[in-house]
Amino acid sequence: MMTRRQALKTTVLASAAVTTTAVLRPAGAQTASTSGGAATPTGPFTLPPLPYGFDALEPHIDALTMQIHHDKHHAAYVANLNKAVAEFPGLGTKPVEALLKDPNAVPEKVRATVRNNGGGHYNHTLFWQMMSKAGGGQPSGKLLQALVKRFGSFAAFKEELTKSALGQFGSGWAWLVLDADKRLGVESTPNQDSPVSQKKLPLLGVDVWEHAYYLKYQNRRPDYVAAFFNVINWDWVTERYDQALS
Ligand SMILES: [Fe+2]
Repeated sequence: MMTRRQALKTTVLASAAVTTTAVLRPAGAQTASTSGGAATPTGPFTLPPLPYGFDALEPHIDALTMQIHHDKHHAAYVANLNKAVAEFPGLGTKPVEALLKDPNAVPEKVRATVRNNGGGHYNHTLFWQMMSKAGGGQPSGKLLQALVKRFGSFAAFKEELTKSALGQFGSGWAWLVLDADKRLGVESTPNQDSPVSQKKLPLLGVDVWEHAYYLKYQNRRPDYVAAFFNVINWDWVTERYDQALS
């Protein structure tokens, strides 16, 4: 039986080209629909299964949004990434995180495609795990202490992340990150850019692409971001933080 820590470690590696997604799949996990055809990945990168049912985050995030988000959007990032690296087999042997951390090592011909689709694959692989049915509330332990120290209070951190999510013009993400000096920060990135490309570890991210919320919330991004706080998997975020410090 895999421990939580082992699972977390494996999860981080899930963004790698070669991954064992089966071991990450708890009871009720959803596998990608294969009815999409074009979105079915073929290549070194694979779509990890959603670690819970499509409807697990209801009513905060609806099942149809989760299904399309995972089975179509995330699957498309994986498929496009595989297509991009097909001409450069060496790229497919590296974890996607490594490609994002060192974009200059990616041939110029596919650099932008890898940045966008590799970023989409990496960000979403983390995103699914940042949420859970039993989520919400606030973290505990060292992470809570660090958030209070950095932002003044948990409420102030929440306000800061919300401001960042609402302030991101167009598509992108708002993040809680840990920098190289182990300092927490809140920032947003456009499109599928990932904090790892700036040598920062993403601890928590909220996807503010319209595909993440439009079916249920339409233009009401503030309502979606408020709802996101009800599904944050603080256990996972806290463990990721603890692991980064150790
Ligand atoms: Fe997304």
